[in-house]
Amino acid sequence: MTHRNLVVLTGAGISAESGVPTFRADDGLWCGHRVEDVATPQGYAADPALVQDFYNQRRRQLAEVRPNAAHRALADLAARWEGDFLLVTQNVDDLHDRAHAQTPPGAGFELIHMHGELLKARCTRSGVVMDWAGDMAADQASPHHPQGLMRPHIVWFGEMPLEMERIEAALEACDLFVSIGTSGAVYPAAGFVQSARYAGARTVEINLEPTQGARLFDEGVYGPATQAVPGFFDGL
Ligand code: OAD
Repeated sequence: MTHRNLVVLTGAGISAESGVPTFRADDGLWCGHRVEDVATPQGYAADPALVQDFYNQRRRQLAEVRPNAAHRALADLAARWEGDFLLVTQNVDDLHDRAHAQTPPGAGFELIHMHGELLKARCTRSGVVMDWAGDMAADQASPHHPQGLMRPHIVWFGEMPLEMERIEAALEACDLFVSIGTSGAVYPAAGFVQSARYAGARTVEINLEPTQGARLFDEGVYGPATQAVPGFFDGL
């Protein structure tokens, strides 16, 4: 079977073997915090120091992790794929970006971080987004607006994920949709498989184990991402 237009959705499971904890595991990424306190606009308004500290720690941890064989397999695929390839990640780490920097992707490739990026900051007043590598203070002044503060460029609960129009357009045009290392617990990403099905695409789930939504996929490939992802794409 040949495919031309590919959409891949990734979640925390693809970075797990690099040492980034997933969200819903027992030792999950919320690290003992309530989601409401560290991942909502209300939490940030109530205690910006706590929220900034939480993301400062996550940002610092990026120095200790590296892309794994699953990230690299997608980068290799992007370099040789002849049609359109949209890689949508829910992850806020930069492991896909680093893997693709080593293997320059082909012309039809695009990477979207739909839940934002740890290495970016956003002005609360102007909305301007800029690269941000270091820590952010609770009252980090914005260079873009006199009354603005810089906040993490992370999509919190209750906020709109990024680039949804672009993603929906790619799903409508895709003929292969692969969901990797995501529990399918958070919408709208959890609904992408339905959009791909409406478009007539072949749908594949790659995960350690079947997820709650496994029956929505035509096929499941189960095992650690570092083995299952290269195995699946090498066999395409
Ligand atoms: P979850 O923690 O919900 O799910 C991680 C998935 O990865 C699970 O289905 C695991 O079975 C799977 N997994 C774990 N280790 C794996 C491995 N080595 N190989 C393959 N699969 C593995 O994380 P997400 O689905 O990414 O949103 O969570 C979605 C969103 O929920 C996140 O982006 C975040 C969170 O709330 C925001 O912060 C907006």
